[in-house]
Amino acid sequence: MLFNKHQQKIKEQISKAFQEEFQQELSVESMRLEEPPKSDMGDLALPCFPMARILRMAPPKIASRLAEKIPQSDEIEKAVPEGGYLNIFFNKSRFIEMTLKEIQEKKLDYGSVEKEDKETVLIEYSSPNTNKPLHLGHLRNNVLGMAVANLLETTGCKAVKVNLINDRGVHIAKSMLAYDKWGGGETPESSGMKGDHLVGKYYVLFEAKLKEHPALEEEAQEMLHKWENDDAETIALWKKMNGWVYKGFEETYGRMETLFDKWYFESDTYQLGKNIVQEGLEKGIFYKREDGAVEVDLAEHGLDKKVLLRPNGTAVYITQDLGTAKLKYDDYQFSRSFYVVANEQEYHFNVLFKILELLGFQWSKGCVHLSYGMVDLPEGKMKSREGTVVDADDLLNELKELAKTGIRERRDDYQDEELESRAEEIGQGALKYFLLKVNPKNNIRFDPKEAISFEGSTGPYIQYSHARIQSILRKAGEISFDSVNFSSLGNTEEFSLAKQLYNFPEEVRKAALEYNPARVCEAAWHIAKDLSKFYKEHQVLRAETEELKKARLFMIYCTALVLKKTLNLLGITAPDKM
Ligand code: ARG
Repeated sequence: MLFNKHQQKIKEQISKAFQEEFQQELSVESMRLEEPPKSDMGDLALPCFPMARILRMAPPKIASRLAEKIPQSDEIEKAVPEGGYLNIFFNKSRFIEMTLKEIQEKKLDYGSVEKEDKETVLIEYSSPNTNKPLHLGHLRNNVLGMAVANLLETTGCKAVKVNLINDRGVHIAKSMLAYDKWGGGETPESSGMKGDHLVGKYYVLFEAKLKEHPALEEEAQEMLHKWENDDAETIALWKKMNGWVYKGFEETYGRMETLFDKWYFESDTYQLGKNIVQEGLEKGIFYKREDGAVEVDLAEHGLDKKVLLRPNGTAVYITQDLGTAKLKYDDYQFSRSFYVVANEQEYHFNVLFKILELLGFQWSKGCVHLSYGMVDLPEGKMKSREGTVVDADDLLNELKELAKTGIRERRDDYQDEELESRAEEIGQGALKYFLLKVNPKNNIRFDPKEAISFEGSTGPYIQYSHARIQSILRKAGEISFDSVNFSSLGNTEEFSLAKQLYNFPEEVRKAALEYNPARVCEAAWHIAKDLSKFYKEHQVLRAETEELKKARLFMIYCTALVLKKTLNLLGITAPDKM
């Protein structure tokens, strides 16, 4: 990577100077360079404190003697001692040249790592239930799952994206029962409702009716029992209603470009889970209670007892998870398996991973719960369908409308069709960026108005920064960047922008390591901010000379590539016009 190569060269030059001045070795491997606290103190600093003991010399003395020995080079403009530090100043125009040429060569692969032997990682996310439509929590889950998968993929993994559908259980039976009783045969077509919303309506209806008719609970259990016994009519209804739900989900996923390589269904995996529980029972890892329930005692591991099969032999939530976990491994032999699930399920995953370990599955060590915080709306911001949860489709529509208003305030030359598609892109950019710019661990208060703003650290601002460059490049017309003269570049703003571009691959690496897309948002924001400072101070199309104009055009062209890459990683589109 550019970052590593460049730092390596600087270290080699310092090491050589050290050898010459002190006749002692300072190995490149052991050398640690720091970023100075202020940019006017240089670009990198070598702390001289660790060498003081070996050389029997005060650190400031070491720094100043070393400074005199370091010659100018393609990498280093000057080395200046300050206290116990040796401050290194980059050769600015060569630095810009090196960075931009690397971006030009790599294009959208800038910041990506190519590996021969790719590690397979599995990433399960979204994972909704089929009794209601997707809500605001799923939106955070979906964008987080996509972004983390992109980050892992870009840093050299093969990321398999998986959805696990909870399509069975008493809550599913409830919406089925309500539909059976009061549905009057309506369908998504006859009602004009999206299938998942239609089914969700009956789930809400069930809960409402239950208040007056408590016996309904019993009926729902009976329906589940029938389902488990393969009752033909019940299965037919289940298939029909789930089919509606999948169509609805797919529409929302398609709209958001949420992608999956594989869908797992709990109705398939709960049997596998039951088999695993049976095996664990035979091996004595689990035990049967007097009432017939199968349980595991995790007290030694700092966890509680956990029921794995009910007294009547039916499966619980964790039963299917045992089966699904193993099936995932059998299917993909992953080295890591991620579960993007809200932090309210932390305990569940501690228990699940512990049980898998006790069962002797070596791969359980690679299981990771990617836990994330809550998301809600400020009071009164938006009425949701049922008044309790915020519906995903409603929110997407609301953002699109806000984006339209935003666009209309800025320009009036859009045709209807263009306005529609641009508003969709901006609305989603706003949503995704807002949900991703916060560390996954933290809670979010989602404010649609703030998210859609064209200023500040927002999706639309990053999209706009990219589109603005495209517009300048269009105005510049056909240009070739074959022979750019870089010697004219190097003022404060150009250098600062180039440094953000240079740091980008390192930020991507860290983001992937921490499973934290917020780092990518931050990198994008720094780039966009420095770009805007650069525009404010300097002319591009009306630069003083043709040479300078070309060099600056090249600079913004490369910046646009990196901005597009950041947006791609976040699952956001980068329109060429805004
Ligand atoms: N369907 C579950 C829910 O809505 C989430 C599933 C999470 N994934 C898992 N493997 N347990 O709460």
